[in-house]
Amino acid sequence: MNYTAKMLRDDALKGKTIVVTGGGSGLGKSMTTYFMELGANVIITSRNIEKLERVKTELETETGGTCLALACDVRNIKEVEAMHKKAIEAFGKVDVLLNNAAGNFISPTERLSANAFDTIIDIVLKGTKNCTLTFGKHWIDTKQKNTSVLNIVTTYAWTGSAYVVPSATAKAGVLAMTRSLAVEWAKYGMRFNAIAPGPFPTKGAWDRLLPEDIRDKFDLAKKVPLKRVGAHQELSNLAAYLASDFSAYMNGEVITIDGGEWLKGAGQMNLLEQIPEALWDQLEAAIRSKKSN
Ligand code: HXC
Ligand code: NAP
Repeated sequence: MNYTAKMLRDDALKGKTIVVTGGGSGLGKSMTTYFMELGANVIITSRNIEKLERVKTELETETGGTCLALACDVRNIKEVEAMHKKAIEAFGKVDVLLNNAAGNFISPTERLSANAFDTIIDIVLKGTKNCTLTFGKHWIDTKQKNTSVLNIVTTYAWTGSAYVVPSATAKAGVLAMTRSLAVEWAKYGMRFNAIAPGPFPTKGAWDRLLPEDIRDKFDLAKKVPLKRVGAHQELSNLAAYLASDFSAYMNGEVITIDGGEWLKGAGQMNLLEQIPEALWDQLEAAIRSKKSN
């Protein structure tokens, strides 16, 4: 099975312009690479313009596509508006906004200052709001149709999670925004969808969620029924599909891509997986013997 193969046909995103926040690293960079391979113009944004310029050059060489690097801290509405203006000046229009930028770290909540909590909420929830409002209002004003917003959330957006409470709170808000605007702004020709990835190794996430000292103890692959972490191309395939016109009837959906990880934690009897195969004959006999009680 080759789950790292590229899924869509070569011209699937031809003619589309896509903004990827946090597009200079990790999953944002992987999705950007595939979007460019599929013919899209991609604008990558984050706080670090030197990193973005390096990635732009690297990806243009690798894919033969077109990329524009723009510095933009998503927490600052003025910077978001300036980024949007430059994107329109460069390409005339933007078709897809991918809200991927995020901040996160593990911490017992009682150790967090108010500013630490705010920092995560500001990047994840307010950053998504700043970009969505800016792009959405422009699409409404200019009557541009067939546009879409894709938000990267997590499965703990609906389960919640200890030790990443600001992130869980913010991602839950982003999911609510996705579902709410999918209905409210459909009349303007906009679609809103989300992806909830399970563990996909990236330096940004692993440094902050699985620091070296605990990495051996907490092998995330072991939490996944499929017993592996995700490959970036698997996520890029899904994101490219949701950014493309092939998903024109998908609206208001959150798609989980986690090998079954969150459900494994949820099912009451899932722990029975630890029972050795040989013990099942004995257990079955014991249970059947209780039939007449
Ligand atoms: C407690 C901390 C802290 C920590 C920072 N703070 N790190 N508090 N424990 N480990 C506090 C600071 O003391 C400060 O509060 C406040 O948070 C802001 O910190 P700054 O360093 O000034 O903020 P900033 O420079 O803006 O950096 C933001 C950041 C940083 C989030 C702290 O880590 C960052 O830039 N992250 C971007 C990339 C990222 O996080 N990627 C991971 C995404 S992974 P005070 O009160 O002292 O001023 C992800 C995966 C989800 O989302 C699910 C995976 C399975
Ligand atoms: P990452 O490489 O750390 O990506 C985060 C990106 O956000 C970086 O490029 C960073 O760039 C940018 N960013 C941070 N703060 C910003 C700000 N204020 N303004 C603009 N950009 C900012 O981590 P990742 O693992 O690829 O995560 C990507 C997305 O996937 C996130 O939404 C994350 O929550 C989600 N996710 C990841 C996993 C996983 O297993 N990796 C699982 C579930 C969900 P700068 O530092 O240059 O600003």
